[in-house]
Amino acid sequence: MNESSTVIRRKGAAAVAASRPLALFATVALGVEELTAGELQRLGASEIQMVRGGVSFSGDRRILYRSLMRLRTASRVLVQLGSFPCGSPQELYDGIRSLPWTELLTPAMTLAVDCTLRDSAITHSHFAALKAKDAIVDLLRDATGSRPNIETKAPDLRVNLHIAKNRATVSLDASGAPLDRRGWRLDRNDAPLRETLAAAIMLHTGWDGSVPLLDPMCGSGTLLLEGAAMALGQPAGGGREFGLMRWRDFDRRLWERLLQEEQAAAASSLTVPVLGYDRDPRAIIACRENARRAGLEYAISFDRRPFEDTEPCGHQGVLVMNPPYGVRMGDKSELEALYRKIGEVFKRRFTGWTAYLLAGDLELARLVGLKPARRFVLFNGPLECRLLKYELY
Ligand SMILES: C[S@@+](CC[C@H](N)C(=O)[O-])C[C@H]1O[C@@H](n2cnc3c(N)ncnc32)[C@H](O)[C@@H]1O
Repeated sequence: MNESSTVIRRKGAAAVAASRPLALFATVALGVEELTAGELQRLGASEIQMVRGGVSFSGDRRILYRSLMRLRTASRVLVQLGSFPCGSPQELYDGIRSLPWTELLTPAMTLAVDCTLRDSAITHSHFAALKAKDAIVDLLRDATGSRPNIETKAPDLRVNLHIAKNRATVSLDASGAPLDRRGWRLDRNDAPLRETLAAAIMLHTGWDGSVPLLDPMCGSGTLLLEGAAMALGQPAGGGREFGLMRWRDFDRRLWERLLQEEQAAAASSLTVPVLGYDRDPRAIIACRENARRAGLEYAISFDRRPFEDTEPCGHQGVLVMNPPYGVRMGDKSELEALYRKIGEVFKRRFTGWTAYLLAGDLELARLVGLKPARRFVLFNGPLECRLLKYELY
C-alpha cells in the first residue's frame, strides 16, 4: 500500500483493548442525520460528524455496544477498518489484502461483502464486492490452508466496502440485520412505517411522556411503540441479535453488563395516556400483539375507532398521525374528504394540543386547511415527505 493508505489497526475490530477508540459510522435515511447526531451525543460518542446519509463518530467498545442498544434513527453501525486509494481492480485487491483479516476471521467463519460506490473508475458494485471477497479468501487460504465460506444472508462477518472518488473505505457491519428490526414486529398491516422513521418523527415531536400521546390512525402502532419506548428510555434492540455478536472479539460479559445498565435505567411506567385508534379491526389486533412482544402492552391502549369519532384525552397533548396518502392505500376523492375532516377535527376538538402529520402528498395535506407552524423533511423509503407541525391554539 502507498502512503495515502490507512489501516486503522488501532481501530480494528479484533485484538483491540476495550478502551481503544474505534472509528464508527452510523448509516441513516436522508434527512435524519441531525437527529442521529443528537442520539450519539446523548450516548457519549465523540468526534460526531454528519455527512449526507450518515454520521461518523468515535468511541470505545462501550460506545459501539451502546450505539447498537440505543440508536433508534440509524439503519446500521459500521466499524471502520481502513481506507486506501482504489482506482483499479488491482488496487482494490491489494488494499483489501493489506487489512488484518487473519485477526478478524477464521476459515470456519462465514463471510459476506456488501459494496456501494460512486464517482469511481470501478463502476460495478457487484464486481467490486467479488474482487474484495477474493482478496480476503485468498489471504486466509494462504495463511491457514483453508478458506471461509460465503453466506450472504446471515454471515459471521459482514464487510462493508464503500468506494467514492477512487478511494475505498472498508468497514465491518456491526448491526447484522438492519437496526429498524427491533424484534417486536411480526404483524404488518398495509403500510407500516419503518421503526427508524417512526423514531425520527417522535424525536421531532419532542414528546417526553409528560402529556398524553394519541395516534388516531395507528396502523400497526409503530409511532406509539417507538414513542413509548423512547419516553421510558428502553434500549432499542434489547432482545435481538446483532452482527458483532459473532465476531471473534465479542465481549458478551461487557454487552450483558451494559444492557442490564440500560434496562435498569429505563422507567417502568408512563403516567399519561398513550392511545392508538384505527378503524381497521385487524390493525388493532396487530397493535396489541406488537405491544405485547415489545413489552409495552401496559403502556399503550389500542381501540377500534374511526377518526371521525376521535376525542382528545385531556386539555393538552401530542397527536401524531400518518394518514393514508394514496401511494400504497386509498382512493383520491375519499382521501380528499379524509384530509378535510382531519383539519375540521383538529380545529373543533383539539384546542390546546400540538398535532404532527406525516404528509406523503402535499396536495392532500393542504386540504387540512391549517397553517403548519413547522415542516420537517423526511424520507419514507424513496418518497420525500413532510412532517407538518400544527399548534392548535
Ligand atoms: C398509513 S397507515 C398508518 C401506518 C402506521 N403509522 C404504522 O406505522 O403502522 C394509515 C392507517 O389509517 C387507518 N385509517 C384510514 N382511514 C381511517 C379513518 N377514517 N379512521 C381511522 N383510521 C383510518 C388505516 O386503517 C391505516 O391503518
